[in-house]
Amino acid sequence: MKEPKRYLVTSALPYANGPVHIGHLAGVYVPADIYCRYLRLKGKDVIFIGGSDEHGVPITLKAKKECITPQEIVDRYHEIIKKSFKDFGISFDIYSRTSSKIHHETAAEFFMTLYDKGEFVEKTSLQFYDEHEQQFLADRYIMGTCPKCGAENAYGDQCEKCGSSLSPEELVNPRSVISGNSPIKKETKHWYLPLDKYEDELRKWILEEHKEWKPNVYGQCKSWLDSGLFPRAVTRDLNWGVKVPLEEAKNKVLYVWFDAPIGYISATKELTPNWEKYWKDKDTKMVCFIGKDNIVFHCIIFPSMLKHEGTYILPDNIPANEFLNLENDKISTSRNWAVWLHEYLEEFPNKQDVLRYVLASNAPETKDNDFTWKDFQTKNNSELVAIYGNFVNRALSLTQKYYDGIIPQPTEITEYEQLIKQEIITIKQNIEKNIENYKFREALKEAMNICRLGNKYLADTEPWKLQKTDVARVQTILYYSLQLCVIAATLTEPFLPFTSKKLFQLLNIKKINWDETEKFHVIKSGHKINMPELLFERIENEQIDFQIEKLQKVKEQNEKSNKKVEPQKNSINYEDFEIQDIRVGTILEAEKVIKADKLLKLLVDVGIDKRTIVSGIAKYYKPEEIIGKQVCVLVNLAPRTLKGIESKGMILMTEDSDGSLKFISPENICSNGSSVK
Ligand code: MF3
Ligand code: ZN
Repeated sequence: MKEPKRYLVTSALPYANGPVHIGHLAGVYVPADIYCRYLRLKGKDVIFIGGSDEHGVPITLKAKKECITPQEIVDRYHEIIKKSFKDFGISFDIYSRTSSKIHHETAAEFFMTLYDKGEFVEKTSLQFYDEHEQQFLADRYIMGTCPKCGAENAYGDQCEKCGSSLSPEELVNPRSVISGNSPIKKETKHWYLPLDKYEDELRKWILEEHKEWKPNVYGQCKSWLDSGLFPRAVTRDLNWGVKVPLEEAKNKVLYVWFDAPIGYISATKELTPNWEKYWKDKDTKMVCFIGKDNIVFHCIIFPSMLKHEGTYILPDNIPANEFLNLENDKISTSRNWAVWLHEYLEEFPNKQDVLRYVLASNAPETKDNDFTWKDFQTKNNSELVAIYGNFVNRALSLTQKYYDGIIPQPTEITEYEQLIKQEIITIKQNIEKNIENYKFREALKEAMNICRLGNKYLADTEPWKLQKTDVARVQTILYYSLQLCVIAATLTEPFLPFTSKKLFQLLNIKKINWDETEKFHVIKSGHKINMPELLFERIENEQIDFQIEKLQKVKEQNEKSNKKVEPQKNSINYEDFEIQDIRVGTILEAEKVIKADKLLKLLVDVGIDKRTIVSGIAKYYKPEEIIGKQVCVLVNLAPRTLKGIESKGMILMTEDSDGSLKFISPENICSNGSSVK
């Protein structure tokens, strides 16, 4: 497109059902932030939109689990997420949320416009319904046995054991997550966006007019389009979300993927009365930053909504990233396999830029990438410290040492200085070209070349040696080095904003615009800079080992809880069960058995008598904490002698999935000797 008048930059709204981690930053928010900071430094009119996605079934399920309302869940995480973004310098012009009034109004109105234009197709179909709860069941509200692997806890949309995508119809013995009852099928009406009708125009818009989209994005769109589009329901039978603004749809809400992208619009409305300029003027360039799991929604569904609403512009580009893995394993919230941003900041205070640097230089732009703590350490020590930090520190320290911090007058300029000026122009152009093409890794590499160049300049000219022989030359070298510091501070700002700010403070000047770096001579002779401080510190092995061990523990924990549920044993008759005499008893005494670290010797009142029982529970219970406890005892087990002690019966225990043993106890105190049937 021709030079846009303004930019509208959106970043996917994270679900407010958990904190954010490095995968979010690397995939979406760091790239989007680099892009916006760059445009601002270029003096462009840009707004950067973010917010929390606060609807959808997972949020209602989480609320149910914790016995609180969905609103309480999203209130909690919205604040945590918002703070993490702020702490990491993600420079949103607004960070809004979809449970806000303005969003509900905007989304409902958007729906009504499409409705009034007759865009939707209405269809009645049979859906699972929980009669007891009088409620339709979303896919995630149905569980059952996986038809593919036999796991018993598969969801209506997916089996987490084997990873297959499912539809609720495929589940064997489906049951309602809410009541546990088996659901019936009941008729319900929904509104569908007829994507099949839009197929031709989408093919033209994407496949012909947007060949410049990233290959991963273009490829995914093409494969969707090639396999044929179908109408998509944009309403759901649920009570958490934006109410469908129709009389006949009282208990229905908009599908979360219909309302969420409208959240970008509502947030803009909240930000500025001028919002329509950004959304409806064809001179606006809209860019949506997302992760790869969001591609179809942003490239196919949302643009169809915008286009058929009639008054909106469409995204110019949707530079979706692939995923970031952590230490060779997929990042997973439920398995706690992640580096959480709020935890990172506690463990690496003031090191936001280190993480930003590592994530940007390793951003999963073309394929999934891996974050490892070793690589994090290496990038910090041998790039940030050794290249950027080292150059700046030498330039500032030498100026301090030889000229009391006052920038010297340059004297004769040599070819070397001419070359540096030229090099800088090339580097600057390369950064621009790469950022504008969403190649942030490459752009960052180029930006670091400023400092590489600076280091080489100092190493080649060795001003510390010349100081005795050629003071005039040293003046020029330091003067030029300090200009390079200003340029580095400016052109790395989109990537490392905290460092930039600090460097400007050390240089004792205000920040400058992107293109002012072309002047080259920004900081003047005679100006006094501040005492140098290190921009970066080395990260030592201990800190890294700590992080690796922390992850190792998560892994062990997960392996334990992954232990399979034992398969059911062969069936028996009641008579087979009845021959076991199980009674409730109270533990009266307990002590350790000498030379047997697993065993406790117990005296148990089982009603019939008080007897000694030896039990292998010493690893899980201390003797003093179980005295007085009621337990179940198999009393007619033939007596056995263990470590010289005769044991008359067995305490019943259950083995939890982590391998620990727990007592089976009556719910309330009952008389000793009561039998278990
Ligand atoms: N909440 C979604 C996710 O995390 C992203 C929503 S982006 C929006 O995958 F456009 F719909 F807002
Ligand atoms: Zn399965």
